[in-house]
This record gives sequence, structure tokens and C-alpha cells, in this order.
Amino acid sequence: MRENVVDTDFILERVNHYLASESDKQLIMDKVVELLIDSVPYYDWVGFYLVKDGRLELGPFRGAPSPHTVIEMDSGICGAAVRDRATIIVDDVNADPRYLACSLETKSEIVVPMFKGQEVIGEIDIDSHTPAAFTEEDKILLEKIAELVSTKV
Ligand code: SME
Repeated sequence: MRENVVDTDFILERVNHYLASESDKQLIMDKVVELLIDSVPYYDWVGFYLVKDGRLELGPFRGAPSPHTVIEMDSGICGAAVRDRATIIVDDVNADPRYLACSLETKSEIVVPMFKGQEVIGEIDIDSHTPAAFTEEDKILLEKIAELVSTKV
């Protein structure tokens, strides 16, 4: 069913194209967030956070402006994904005490860390207005994109 909604081959083809044709990492991340929000109907906020000076700083994003432009590592689902060094899917953000609210409309969230070697260098954060929007397919796609983009960040 969902394969009809998310064209993963198209998305990965575009990401590979951006990586091959652009060298500016901010521009690559900007194109990727635009691609993702345009391609997947239930992705309502898409952004990169990058590790800088021991904190997470908001990079390119699409969606409502977030009050969380800097997130401490001990804070939020975003901080938890860095500490866990693993993707976190939250089906109901309002039931998760770690959650830092960006928009009242957000119901579920996925955070996917990006690695350089063993080090977490950033993450992809996506919010949905749909409860329990994210599945294993999103995780596989986004982990692949994180791996591809991390070669340039
Ligand atoms: N919800 C995130 C904060 C970032 S905003 O969603 C853009 C968190 O709990 O870490």
C-alpha cells in the first residue's frame, strides 16, 4: 500500500543526483528537505540538525518555524536519538515526556542520526500531523538518505 504513496526509488535517485551535482553541503541539505516534504504527503516538517559544540543546531528545514533552533543533547527526542545512536520513532508525541513541541499539529515524529565513522554528526528530524505516521519503510529510506548525506556533511 505505502509503496504507492512513497516512491523511494525516485527519492533516492534525486538524492544521489544532488550529491553528484552539488558540492555545497547546505545546498544539498536544503534540496533534500524540499524533496522530502514535496514527495511524502504525511511529512509535515522536515529538517536537519547538526552537532556543533556539543549541541544540536537547526540546519535547512521546511515547515513551520521551530522554536528549537538549538537543542541540548540531554533534551528532546532529538537529543535522545544522538544518545541512543539510533533512529527513534514516536507514534504519539504527546505521550512521550521527552518530546519538545514544535507545532501543536504534530502527532508523530521520526529522528534518524547521521554518522561519520562512529561519531554522530547530525540527524534528520521529521514531524507528521498524522498519528503513528512512520513505519519501517520510512526508517529504511531515511537511514539510507542520512548515510548518503553524511558523506558530504
Ligand atoms: N520535536 C523535537 C524538537 C524539534 S521540532 O520538532 C522541530 C524533539 O523533541 O527533540
